[in-house]
Amino acid sequence: MKALVVYDSVHGNTEKIAQVAGNVINGEVSVRRVGEVSPSDLKSIDLLIVGSPTHGGKPTQAIQGFLNSMPEPVSGVAVAAFDTRLSAAWVKVFGYAAERIAGAFRRKGWPLVEPVEGFFVKGRQGPLKDGEIQRAAAWAKAISTDTS
Ligand SMILES: Cc1cc2nc3c(=O)[nH]c(=O)nc-3n(C[C@H](O)[C@H](O)[C@H](O)COP(=O)(O)O)c2cc1C
Repeated sequence: MKALVVYDSVHGNTEKIAQVAGNVINGEVSVRRVGEVSPSDLKSIDLLIVGSPTHGGKPTQAIQGFLNSMPEPVSGVAVAAFDTRLSAAWVKVFGYAAERIAGAFRRKGWPLVEPVEGFFVKGRQGPLKDGEIQRAAAWAKAISTDTS
């Protein structure tokens, strides 16, 4: 399996999840901050994973720009989405970044591997809640196994 994990991160929590995904997926996996990725990087992979912190219910501007620049679906490439988010009840009303990322993929016709997942932080700057690293490892294993 060849996978590319593209993420954005302000305080490092989403980056940690991206790195965990990179470590547990079997095969050739590259983990890159959005902005270090070019459209041609999508051509020789099986799975693209995109992750973002949730900002006002959405992915960051940089991730939104990346999604807007995504080409038509590339044959043989599946996609997956995750975010980091607060667990407070009031943030639910805004929605979450991962669902927006998944929606952008669906609209463009990319085959989405589910589940779309969110990982919880304790506060705006983190850290990740206890157990989230392990949950991320299990999620990344599962979606990459479904794809191969
Ligand atoms: C400007 C701003 C807006 C945010 N809005 C939301 C939100 O709507 N929902 C939510 O769950 N978390 C929100 N958060 C908290 C982020 O989810 C949290 O900062 C992020 O998960 C940390 O990831 P990072 O360390 O990779 O930046 C917001 C944080 C910032 C800085």
